[in-house]
Amino acid sequence: MYHDFNYEATLASSLRAQWQLDDVLREDQALDFSRNFMPESLARTAALGSLNPFEQRILNQISAHQYLCIFGVVEEFILPFLLDHARPALRDDDYRVRALLNFASEEAKHIHLFKRFHEAFVRGFPVECQMIGPSEAIGAEVLRHDPLAVALVILMIEWMTQQHYLGSIRDDGDLDPLFKSLMKHHWMEEAQHAKLDTLIVDALGEGRSEAQIDQAIDEFFEIGGFLDEGLKQQAAFNLDALEKVIGRKLDDRDEILAQQHQAARWTYIGSGMVHDRFKATLATLSARAAERMAEAAPVFA
Ligand SMILES: [Fe+2]
Ligand SMILES: [Fe+2]
Repeated sequence: MYHDFNYEATLASSLRAQWQLDDVLREDQALDFSRNFMPESLARTAALGSLNPFEQRILNQISAHQYLCIFGVVEEFILPFLLDHARPALRDDDYRVRALLNFASEEAKHIHLFKRFHEAFVRGFPVECQMIGPSEAIGAEVLRHDPLAVALVILMIEWMTQQHYLGSIRDDGDLDPLFKSLMKHHWMEEAQHAKLDTLIVDALGEGRSEAQIDQAIDEFFEIGGFLDEGLKQQAAFNLDALEKVIGRKLDDRDEILAQQHQAARWTYIGSGMVHDRFKATLATLSARAAERMAEAAPVFA
């Protein structure tokens, strides 16, 4: 076995690591808009030489707004997926049922937390930032795919949050402490989710032929392509918001758009795709699946 995850131990770790919303952000707290919100390893705004430091920070904060919205969207499809996965076997293994329902409940809490951060953002930011959606439509499009493909997307997303937190502690003394705390608390619970996702993928992959796994990987890439289109659209919305705040049109908008789209690809897809644990799960599923993922990964770097 390439891992030693099980429902009983994961449930116990989850219950130990749990926190409350107010531990991360109280309803009356304000974000510090004199600082960056996103680690540079994800936002890549300091690399934009045509923007002055103030403009770079505004775009960094808009990129954090995107983070709150994108995670809101993905957690909204993770939640029903988990309930659907748990429901057919509610009488079998008590630890499994409790671990999966606890996982679902934590995702509902994360949705709540991301909304609370979003409200704090809106209170402090000078213009309205547009967001792709509606999240129900995005969720429905993702969930119409093979459950194994969806489970792999979720596994990738949950491992990527590990990478995000590590990036945020590594690179930035200047980050808003509340945003840093958001990444830390998300990381704490997602670490357990990723183990449960691994067990879900194992279960859904069991007994599948090579051709059926290949089909699921096709669908994984379909979902990835769909999400990537959304990221491209979102990058354009982000620049609209930046132009509104700074009161000028960007001369090199196309270059910035491409660079910011690429930053989002890395943040929301690539950083999960190259995670060692994600790669290990794929390799166990099939050597061909791991190969196909490795070939695609550079597009999202
Ligand atoms: Fe989450
Ligand atoms: Fe999660």
